[in-house]
Amino acid sequence: MSISFDFESLSERERYKLMIGTVVPRPIALVTTVDENGRINAAPFSFFNCLSADPPILALGVENNPDMSFKDTGHNIRMTEVFTVNIVSFAIAEAMHVCGSKYPRGVDELKHAGLTAVPGTKVASPYIAEAPAAFECKRHVTLELGKSRQIIMGEIVYAHYRDGVVDPERLRVDPAALDAIARLGGDTCSTIRDRFEMLTPKL
Ligand SMILES: Cc1cc2nc3c(=O)[nH]c(=O)nc-3n(C[C@H](O)[C@H](O)[C@H](O)COP(=O)(O)O)c2cc1C
Repeated sequence: MSISFDFESLSERERYKLMIGTVVPRPIALVTTVDENGRINAAPFSFFNCLSADPPILALGVENNPDMSFKDTGHNIRMTEVFTVNIVSFAIAEAMHVCGSKYPRGVDELKHAGLTAVPGTKVASPYIAEAPAAFECKRHVTLELGKSRQIIMGEIVYAHYRDGVVDPERLRVDPAALDAIARLGGDTCSTIRDRFEMLTPKL
C-alpha cells in the first residue's frame, strides 16, 4: 500500500507540511541585514541553499508577512542590496531561535539573542562573531514567486570562518568544527554528527 497526494489539490499549508517534512535536512541561514538607516536585523531561513559556485550563488526563500508586507529581511535586502548568511552551529541554536521571533522593524534581534555583530568587510550588513562561518553577499537577482514569496539570490563576495573551522591551505571545511544544525519538518531540528564517507566509483 502507498499514500499519494495530488499537489494541485492541496492547500498551501498542506503542501508546506509535506515539503518541509520531506526535503530534509535543510540548512539554516541566520541572515543579517541592515535597513536604510543602518539598523541591524537578523532572522533564520531554512528555505536556503547554495546553487552555483561560478558565479558563487546562494538562494533564500523569503515569505511575506500574512498582511503581504515584506519581512524585515526582504525589505532590507530590497533597500540595501546586500545580506550576510551566518551558518548556525549547535552552540548558537537557541540564539538563532530567538532571532526567529517577530520583533518590530528596527529591533536588533542579535542583542536579544546575545550574539555579537561584527562590521562586514565588503557589505554593510554585519556578520555574527559566534557563527562558525559567514558569507557576505550582494543581491544577484530576486525572483517573485506568486504574490507572497521571493527567492533572493546573492553572490558571495567574502567569507569569514572561526579559527579551526577551515584548513587555510587545502580549503577543507571541518564538518565537526562547523557543527551546523539543520531543520526537519515541524519544529524539529537535527545535528549533522552522524557521517560516513562515500567515494564515487571510478569507471
Ligand atoms: C529554523 C527556522 C527557519 C525558518 N525558515 C524560514 C524560511 O525559509 N522562510 C521564511 O520566510 N521564514 C522562515 N522562518 C521564519 C522567519 O525567521 C520569521 O518570520 C522571522 O520573524 C522573520 O524576521 P524578519 O521580519 O526580521 O525578517 C524560519 C524560522 C525558523 C525558526
